[in-house]
Amino acid sequence: MTTARGRTAPRTRIVVDGNSVHAVDGISLAAVLVGERRWSLRRNPVGDDPRGPFCGMGVCFECEVTVDGRPGVRACITKIYDGMRVETAVEEEAPHDR
Ligand code: FES
Repeated sequence: MTTARGRTAPRTRIVVDGNSVHAVDGISLAAVLVGERRWSLRRNPVGDDPRGPFCGMGVCFECEVTVDGRPGVRACITKIYDGMRVETAVEEEAPHDR
């Protein structure tokens, strides 16, 4: 990716549910996951429905994932860093759903 000033944005690698993902360094984890078409990140504890980012500003807690073994991390207010390991509670959608 090239910035508005013509520079190449630094990229980093994270691991999501065991799969390597390369993204622009320093953006939010939710942005990376949605960019990878991962709309559902957790399950509703009552009805087991899939849930995903809603507010994008740390209020609704719908984007909770596990980061480096720590559960309940809000992806929308967490910046990615190299080597970050992310686990969601929802299996990746089938390719035809993308
Ligand atoms: S999307 Fe609402 S807390 Fe992250």
